[in-house]
Amino acid sequence: MLVKAGSGLATFGQPSSTGVPAATAGDTVVLPLDDDEALRNFFARSGDKLAAAIIEGVPANNGLLIQRPEYMRLLRSLTEKYGAVLILDEVITGFRLGLGGAAAHYDIEPDLMTYGKIIGGGMPVGAFGGRSDIMHQLSPVGPVYQAGTLSGNPVAMAAGLATLKKLAHGNVYDELESKGSLFADTLASQLRGQGVNLIRLASIFWTVFQDEMPRSASAIDAHGISRYNRMHGQVLDSGIYLPPSGYEVCFLSTAHTDEMVVGAARTLASIINGEMVGDSP
Ligand SMILES: Cc1ncc(COP(=O)(O)O)c(C=O)c1O
Repeated sequence: MLVKAGSGLATFGQPSSTGVPAATAGDTVVLPLDDDEALRNFFARSGDKLAAAIIEGVPANNGLLIQRPEYMRLLRSLTEKYGAVLILDEVITGFRLGLGGAAAHYDIEPDLMTYGKIIGGGMPVGAFGGRSDIMHQLSPVGPVYQAGTLSGNPVAMAAGLATLKKLAHGNVYDELESKGSLFADTLASQLRGQGVNLIRLASIFWTVFQDEMPRSASAIDAHGISRYNRMHGQVLDSGIYLPPSGYEVCFLSTAHTDEMVVGAARTLASIINGEMVGDSP
């Protein structure tokens, strides 16, 4: 989006990157997450002028900010009431949380969904889909032109299709859930009261050094992030590659064996406990 919030809820967004024209940002309003009242106030004031609302169902680019289902359902009902298209960004969550992604997790039905990452099976693919009346607006059926050099690239399509078939017909999600809980349980059993919280949803997890589970960026404790960033080098020296920023989340895959998962959780715990300074496991 590359648009940051304006100075108040009533103001439009401002570019957060060079190259985004103020006029484009000016068509966008950024609302705080996890704030039912801000949503209600905005829709009451400007809902009838809104074309679309876009949200990452489980924001996973700035920590793992798992939203309350009531918040997501409120957004769904307000967009429906005011005739705005609800776009769910499923680039990270799509086919990762399960076949139904974040929409199924919250039991909501968006109007459009965007996909990437898993849908390409490791190849560079992005996709979107949704309500047939909206999709019928696309060329060649409708007037909206959408195409590109790599659109429908045959190799990427084959990789994505093979991945999705495997996901649809195997028990991958059960396997990932059990690896996720193995990691969480092992970490919890090894930690010695260090104020660490593992926030996890299926195979996505995020380690935070704070007791409460943040649901918005403003609830993330910056001191905890600094602590993570200081620890990162030690974890890397121990052979475990966690994301380099404390705001980034981790993903488990079927390639991770239970042994690796337990080993990683134990190593992480001993570094957090201060028992280990970068020796190789
Ligand atoms: C949640 C989310 N949405 C959108 C994008 C951007 O997707 P694309 O690179 O396909 O434009 C990313 C990152 O790549 C992402 O993590």
